[in-house]
Amino acid sequence: MQKFKFAIIGCGRLGTNLAICLKSEGHTPVGISAKRMESIQESNHWIHAKTVDICPWNVTQKADVVFITTPDDSIEQTCRQIINHNGLNQDAIVYHCSGSLSSEILSAASNEGFSVGSLHPLQSFPVKRLDGNPFENIYISVEGSPKAIALGKIIVKSLRARLTEISTKGKKMYHAAAVVASNYLVTLLELSRQLNITAGISEDIALTVLTPLIQGTLNNIEKQGIPHALTGPIARGDIQTVQDHITSIKQSLPGYLALYKTLGKYTVPIAKAQQNISDETLLALQDEFYGK
Ligand SMILES: NC(=O)c1ccc[n+]([C@@H]2O[C@H](COP(=O)([O-])OP(=O)(O)OC[C@H]3O[C@@H](n4cnc5c(N)ncnc54)[C@H](OP(=O)(O)O)[C@@H]3O)[C@@H](O)[C@H]2O)c1
Repeated sequence: MQKFKFAIIGCGRLGTNLAICLKSEGHTPVGISAKRMESIQESNHWIHAKTVDICPWNVTQKADVVFITTPDDSIEQTCRQIINHNGLNQDAIVYHCSGSLSSEILSAASNEGFSVGSLHPLQSFPVKRLDGNPFENIYISVEGSPKAIALGKIIVKSLRARLTEISTKGKKMYHAAAVVASNYLVTLLELSRQLNITAGISEDIALTVLTPLIQGTLNNIEKQGIPHALTGPIARGDIQTVQDHITSIKQSLPGYLALYKTLGKYTVPIAKAQQNISDETLLALQDEFYGK
């Protein structure tokens, strides 16, 4: 497999994990940069890059591939600074790793004839160094110029990840999907946790008791897909159970009633797709969720 020299601008949580994995796959870290020297030194303890500097353009010049892994708000400016200081070698390819931004944010480089792309791992990196290879088997979306996509495929393979190609204009919606699946899952589980606490279950286990149920549901979704993974009162058409939930939440946790009902509204069409309950029952369920 093609080996390359790379620089990481922004050796934070993603940048450091990426550098460690690329290095362990035989690619050469020629430079790393961050805002603070202490942060660079901490990361370089694992990366052993040849050049370190708080000025990005001083570490990018020998790189075939430059990853700008700063916070999203700094990507455009960082790319412009590198270009303004002639920081790229003539065949360099520049990537950023934001989920919501496209490669167009790197226009300072593409306007000068450089290939640019975005390469977004669909995973959360909470610390600078995770055990093992945190990229293994995850999906990484790649978008950008043909040359950036071609190298992106090699990078994804090198990280032992799986590739999803995405259009430049699809990135915002793709990122919204990731936010719903990851961040809003947290919000949803907080709703469940609050309902359990209100039911009298001790706070320290209010979430833990749900864990096997959550994992079982994820397994069912993976094996059977949607709509067949849906179980419970809406899938069975148990109108009385739904009414009881609404009454209890209205009495004890009224702040969560709108969320419970909204989720119900979007669950009825999933139950309909299973074709197990009558149209009359489906309409009665809808009335419960749309009613006051
Ligand atoms: N972490 C994740 O779970 C994850 C997952 C997928 C994609 N991403 C994407 O990866 C990128 C980085 O996210 P992150 O979570 O790794 O952020 P992070 O941990 O906050 O790290 C950001 C890094 O950028 C450096 N930095 C900040 N401003 C800079 C500037 N103006 N010039 C040069 N370096 C600068 C910081 O320096 P200091 O270390 O000195 O503060 C730090 O090293 C983002 O585009 C994000 O959307 C992150």
